[in-house]
Amino acid sequence: MRIRNICCIGAGYVGGPTMAVIAQKCPEIDVTVVDINEKRIAAWNDKNVENIPIYEPGLPEVVQEARGRNLFFSTDVDAAIDKADMIFISVNTPTKTYGIGKGMAADLKYIELCARQIARVSKTDKIVVEKSTLPVRTAEALKNILDNTGNGVNFQILSNPEFLAEGTAVDDLMDPDRVLIGGDIDSAKGKEAVDALVNVYAHWVPKSKILTTNVWSSELSKLTANAFLAQRVSSINAMSELCEKTGADVTEVAKAVGMDSRIGSKFLKSSVGFGGSCFQKDILNLVYIAKSFGLHEVADYWEQVIIMNDHQKRRFASNIVSSLFNTVSGKKIALLGWAFKKDTNDTRESAAIYVADYLLNEQAEIVVYDPKVKEEQIFADLDNLNSRSEEENRKRVTVLNDPYEVCRDAHAIAVLTEWDEFKEMDWGKIYKDMLKPAFLFDGRRLLERKTKEEIGFEFYAIGS
Ligand code: NAD
Ligand code: UDX
Repeated sequence: MRIRNICCIGAGYVGGPTMAVIAQKCPEIDVTVVDINEKRIAAWNDKNVENIPIYEPGLPEVVQEARGRNLFFSTDVDAAIDKADMIFISVNTPTKTYGIGKGMAADLKYIELCARQIARVSKTDKIVVEKSTLPVRTAEALKNILDNTGNGVNFQILSNPEFLAEGTAVDDLMDPDRVLIGGDIDSAKGKEAVDALVNVYAHWVPKSKILTTNVWSSELSKLTANAFLAQRVSSINAMSELCEKTGADVTEVAKAVGMDSRIGSKFLKSSVGFGGSCFQKDILNLVYIAKSFGLHEVADYWEQVIIMNDHQKRRFASNIVSSLFNTVSGKKIALLGWAFKKDTNDTRESAAIYVADYLLNEQAEIVVYDPKVKEEQIFADLDNLNSRSEEENRKRVTVLNDPYEVCRDAHAIAVLTEWDEFKEMDWGKIYKDMLKPAFLFDGRRLLERKTKEEIGFEFYAIGS
């Protein structure tokens, strides 16, 4: 079976880039990305391709090439479903904020809404692809809804989790370590559906990297991969605290450890704590699933990754307070970076939000600079915590688009995102314009200690 029309529900950080790359690589397939968020769709359609809603290196070029040719962004969800042979569900699956599983389980309400809409609209057979990260066995629920509320057409459900990381999404999509496709490979129709999706990816991904499994393995592999990656960050962050007490340097330790080919060097960079929309959400989900099967030791094991991460964020912030003579009340603290990592404008679960909140609770005055995050997003992130009134947040936090202005007259600077431009700044000038002693806290191991100390900074870096 050859796929001619793809619909993707959800034009977010996954749906947008993934579909842009599929459209670029498969010019004979029409790809329509739909979303209920009109503002987001309008931004994807903005004449100036630099205004697309997601900042991701290399993405404007891909969108520019395919948009209007075989890549379309629309709010007409029904029309796109109707036309499609294959429908990707790429909607958000955040941690539940209410009811059973609150704070742990994935909220599947958007997934269920999609399933019901697909069932209602579809008049021809469809392949439905889970692109969102979902708890193991979600496909069963999807199938149940589709088969019981549909118009008697055949639905095949595939799991095709996305492994891209933000900031490198285009490269990750163009040259993935693997593509994982889970399907009902024991039935003829299931196998046909799996082959159809394999053929889409085979336009640019070598077949040897396209892995097919049963649906449950595929669903669980995604949660497992994120848990393992996050676990590495928490493991090295745990060591960073021990390094600070012992005179060891976490960068040296990570290098020495990572050169063991059994361990490997990636994801061993100590930081102020991992953020992003995936790690915490997916581990909490894994913990919830384990608990729901009565697997308490498994649940506790993975929960520790989150506990360590929360500790790291708090520890970084409390170290700022204790270094500044145990009070930051009324003191100006400059935050460099708000995004959860460099090369993205995404701030979901960014460590910066929690560091800022901690310091605001200590009555600090916060000034923020991030090259890609907008002021309204920074305030929305703080308001979402409900730690204080919206007025109070706006009174105590200032967002500027000049890093030098942000640092002027500050008692301390905290580097919270590893943007390259922070390395290149004129640190001598920054020092001159700060209050003394001038404290510099590097939460990313981005800056060189020696040169900063020579300038005169009181320099603190995670893990040394
Ligand atoms: P996102 O919030 O950026 O995008 C989701 C979009 O879906 C939103 O624009 C929302 O308006 C839209 N949507 C929700 N319900 C809808 C509906 N019923 N009809 C039409 N549109 C609807 O989320 P994201 O970061 O793209 O993540 C999507 C999924 O992919 C999640 O399950 C996430 O865990 C997974 N994932 C994310 C990443 C990542 O790096 N962000 C990586 C791999 C997997
Ligand atoms: C992650 C997974 O990497 C990706 O495969 C999955 O599809 C989605 O979740 P993402 O969250 O976009 O991707 O970025 P990632 O590069 O994994 O970084 C996550 C967080 O961990 C960031 O805050 C980053 O700064 C932090 N991190 C990462 C570290 O602190 N140290 C490291 O060594 C690596």
